[in-house]
Amino acid sequence: MSTGADGLLGGLDGATVVITGAARGQGDAEARLLARLGARVIATDVVEPDGALGDGIVFRHLDVTDEEAWARLAADLAQTLGATALRGLINNAGVTHRAGIDETGRADWDRVLAVNLTGPMLGMRALAPLMGEGSSIVNVGSVAGLTGHYTAAYTASKWGLRGLSRVAATEYGPRGIRVNTIHPGFIETDMTANAPAAMREAQLELTPLERLGEAADVAGLAVFLISDASRYISGADLPVDGGYAASAGAKHLADRIAAGATITTT
Ligand code: NAI
Repeated sequence: MSTGADGLLGGLDGATVVITGAARGQGDAEARLLARLGARVIATDVVEPDGALGDGIVFRHLDVTDEEAWARLAADLAQTLGATALRGLINNAGVTHRAGIDETGRADWDRVLAVNLTGPMLGMRALAPLMGEGSSIVNVGSVAGLTGHYTAAYTASKWGLRGLSRVAATEYGPRGIRVNTIHPGFIETDMTANAPAAMREAQLELTPLERLGEAADVAGLAVFLISDASRYISGADLPVDGGYAASAGAKHLADRIAAGATITTT
């Protein structure tokens, strides 16, 4: 295992990593952390980044639903890197739609599925041929994909992504490519900036660490999964949610009891 200049998180120094939806939020945090550790990051998005890109990061316009754009990226990388030289792909781009089944129109359903599920499929299919032994794909799911969340299209897209990730882990494993899915809880980014106050409050009440997440909380896990430190982890679903999904609402129960609810211990 290479340890490189970055010590424990080996394999990142000089490695090329593609991240989708990286103009802001979690993708931007992942790009910056990877670049700090010596990686060369291709940050892609449908919007331009707000500020200056850090050293080691180049921006490329890419709509994850555009099959031809993926093919063009693959062709360019094949020319510059050669075969099997791509270290990592983080399928991070995502859109939300906060509505239940009865309020979800066909166009919203199709849009959310296209970005959150079809996008990662197209990305893996285009770029996995450029990946070899020791490389890693990280798919960004959500705690919605671990629960019966109230967002119909979003939840379905993230559950679908979990399944697709396991298919990919099985299919690509023999080629030495690892595939994992990470499941952020409520993270403070543009996506959640307009979330209803009630959702924010409920999320906080149900999170054992009693705080909402930041993009940097997720970036640490994504970078670990791209690095050699996770070299035997594949096909995993990893929440990064302050304990929210594991508690499964039990924190609410514990808080009620601590507040003085009468209980029988036997
Ligand atoms: P964000 O809204 O800040 O970033 C998402 C990025 O995806 C944006 O820059 C956006 O332009 C880009 N994007 C949207 N459609 C695209 C397309 N067709 N092609 C390429 N890029 C596209 O949100 P955030 O929080 O950084 O989201 C990152 C990922 O984390 C998403 O997959 C999201 O579903 C997931 N997530 C976010 C949570 C949160 O609480 N913020 C919770 C759980 C999961």
